[in-house]
Amino acid sequence: MSDAFDDILAKVEANPRRWLVTGSAGFIGSHLLENLLRAGQQVTSLDNFATGHQHNLDQVREAVGEAAWARHRFIQGDIADAETARQACEGIDVVLHQAALGSVPRSIKDPLTTHRANATGFLNMLTGAKDAGVKRFVYAASSSTYGDSPTLPKVEDVIGKPLSPYAVTKYLNELYADVFGRTYGLSSIGLRYFNVFGPRQDPNGAYAAVIPKWVAAMLNGTQCLINGDGETSRDFCFIRNVVQANLRAGITDNPDASNQVYNVAVGDRTTLNQLHAAIAAALATERPDLKVEAPKYQDFRAGDVRHSLADVSKASKLLGYAPTHDVGAGLKQAVAWYVQDAVKRG
Ligand SMILES: NC(=O)c1ccc[n+]([C@@H]2O[C@H](COP(=O)([O-])OP(=O)(O)OC[C@H]3O[C@@H](n4cnc5c(N)ncnc54)[C@H](O)[C@@H]3O)[C@@H](O)[C@H]2O)c1
Repeated sequence: MSDAFDDILAKVEANPRRWLVTGSAGFIGSHLLENLLRAGQQVTSLDNFATGHQHNLDQVREAVGEAAWARHRFIQGDIADAETARQACEGIDVVLHQAALGSVPRSIKDPLTTHRANATGFLNMLTGAKDAGVKRFVYAASSSTYGDSPTLPKVEDVIGKPLSPYAVTKYLNELYADVFGRTYGLSSIGLRYFNVFGPRQDPNGAYAAVIPKWVAAMLNGTQCLINGDGETSRDFCFIRNVVQANLRAGITDNPDASNQVYNVAVGDRTTLNQLHAAIAAALATERPDLKVEAPKYQDFRAGDVRHSLADVSKASKLLGYAPTHDVGAGLKQAVAWYVQDAVKRG
């Protein structure tokens, strides 16, 4: 039986376009690239390997095969360079802009570097898209834009004050995209992702996201660290839902859908304590031999919001978005992938 993901992939396939994916050597970008190539599209992609990896591109190549890979052109470049951004947009119908430096703590430690990629780089991409006559500019916004707003669930037009330099850059993206719509007629769609997870998300480094970090810790037999009491909650969203939202945003011809921002999540929240138990359970079916230690609790982390839960009805109504995977279904696939990847890497 086909679902909301298969439906949109078939629509993309039926009407080929020229796509640009930025951040394609990263987690989300590599999945967008893979699915577009599977759907027979011409794809240019760009990355400077700041946090992305060649092995992600290699895995996409292996997954789609040489014939599909031949429809891909890779640019190694930095979007903070205006000329690189301009050239990448030439001849493109739809941009899926993912390149940015993620992580709230990274931005607190080094706001200038985050600003350069996320704010200057974004403005370069938007300008390049406008000058090239791109038909749709879809970009990775963020749930961090809700900042200190206590409202739950999060509805798109009720936001608070940003809690980190990262959140400032992501909100700035929305402001610029909106102004480019009204000033130059550029059609954009911002997708406020909520804690995305899935295969290829990087488990390494100081700024790794919680799910890959904990899977790696459990596989290595080390204890997982929880910031705070573990009752902090998030609306964890499996990568396939995010790909679906991007494809829908990329090709929608609903005039009301353009120049808007949307929550992209599941609409369900999981506490860190629940998450730890769920990962351990998913891992137990893959690796029954592993012993998982109880987590260790430490101080809350600066800039983190306490609870996050999305109302996804706007994306559902205007884009036809319907998440196909809840946290449990997503974790099963993600954990199975990390286990296999660990075997491959020896
Ligand atoms: N993963 C999440 O939970 C999440 C949540 C909200 C928003 N986002 C946003 O989604 C996007 C993708 O995130 P991700 O999780 O795939 O992260 P990622 O770090 O895996 O991917 C980002 C990619 O962008 C590239 N990049 C960074 N700066 C660049 C530059 N100046 N020029 C060219 N390439 C550059 C990196 O090398 C990397 O490959 C980002 O914009 C991020 O802010 C992610």
